[in-house]
Amino acid sequence: MATSNVANGNGSSETKGKTITCKAAVAHGPGEPFVVEQILVHPPKKMEVRIKILYTSICHTDLSGWKGECEPQRAYPRIFGHEASGVVESVGKGVSDIKEKDIVVLIFNGECGECVYCKCEKTNMCEKFGVDPMKKLMCDGTSRFSTIDGKPIFHFLNTSTFTEYTVVDSGCVVKVNPQETLCLKNLTMLSCGVSTGIGAAWNTANVHAGSSVAVFGLGAVGLAVAEGARARGASKIIGVDINPDKFITAKTMGITDLINPTDEEKPVYERIREMTGGGGVDYSFECTGNLNVLRDAFLSVHEGWGLTVLLGIQSSPKLLPIHPMELFDGRRIEGSIFGGFKGKSQLPNLATECMQGAIKLDKFITHELPFEEINKAFDLLIDGKSLRCLLHL
Ligand code: APR
Ligand code: ZN
Ligand code: ZN
Repeated sequence: MATSNVANGNGSSETKGKTITCKAAVAHGPGEPFVVEQILVHPPKKMEVRIKILYTSICHTDLSGWKGECEPQRAYPRIFGHEASGVVESVGKGVSDIKEKDIVVLIFNGECGECVYCKCEKTNMCEKFGVDPMKKLMCDGTSRFSTIDGKPIFHFLNTSTFTEYTVVDSGCVVKVNPQETLCLKNLTMLSCGVSTGIGAAWNTANVHAGSSVAVFGLGAVGLAVAEGARARGASKIIGVDINPDKFITAKTMGITDLINPTDEEKPVYERIREMTGGGGVDYSFECTGNLNVLRDAFLSVHEGWGLTVLLGIQSSPKLLPIHPMELFDGRRIEGSIFGGFKGKSQLPNLATECMQGAIKLDKFITHELPFEEINKAFDLLIDGKSLRCLLHL
């Protein structure tokens, strides 16, 4: 590669069309500490966008991906991260809805706008840019990242945000309104976890006023469900978590009642039925990624109409812990990816609603650190100390 075709990503020179050298937190093996090192970021190809990341945060799915839990074929070196916001550095051929200097939020569950799913109102799946943990490269089968000595670095969840610059498909980029850029830190929360939780309550379950809800797992995803249910007027929102440290924050975020399973002699679903006059809640949400918890969540909803929404990513190869006959009791179960939101078309509205006060996004940012301290940020999530730690690039 000619030297003139490489630009430093520190803003000191023109970068458009050139390969950028910049810092990234690279994972070299499952669960190994991230190494913050110089990498090369190649220009965006057709329908791709190169973004200078300003903020990124860590979601539990990054943790699972980094540990190599979700996929048999592990791919390293790799750049993880999928919650982020930033500014567009340049766009590839054919991109018309996004331009240089646009302020954007990245989404791992993209929207091409043209496939059979994107054209269907019933789903937020997308043939091209839907979630695929096995996907490690761009759509043309190549990487836009390489090590300084030219070895390809793998992508993650259509996004790869633990880097100063990333390249993503335009279907995974959401332009946000200028007035909202004032709160870009907060808008970063809409990139994955918080939208997932709010959308599960609003879109997947369609929680109604006066209803009862149980949320299993009080991380950012579970508390976003609680906030979404509160905004819809749910009257009882029971939070379940094995880490009592989560309870203080939970009480300020929609949760009205708390259960710590480790303090209970009875199964949690029985406690929940007792707390709701014997019948169970109208809606339950599994936000831990634990299959045994899913069974409790399922049995804690009311016969006849109760709905359990699955949000937690299950790394276990086991099947659902539910006997088919149990479904005749009228309890339903449904999965929710990205809260059912069609990201590109519906996130701007969600952002506006949040800015108007429907959901306070800043409450989810419990910590902020410089990007270089990414390993510390991971420890905060692993130790159950943070909801979201925002890394500044
Ligand atoms: N019972 C109750 N709570 C549990 C259990 C359990 N058996 N196991 C874990 N938890 C709690 C943890 O104590 C923690 O508070 O679940 C919470 C999970 O929160 P985070 O680790 O912060 O994860 P979050 O980012 O909120 O994601 C939750 O949704 O999108 C998926 O992959 C994600 O599976 C993950 C889930
Ligand atoms: Zn996520
Ligand atoms: Zn599509």
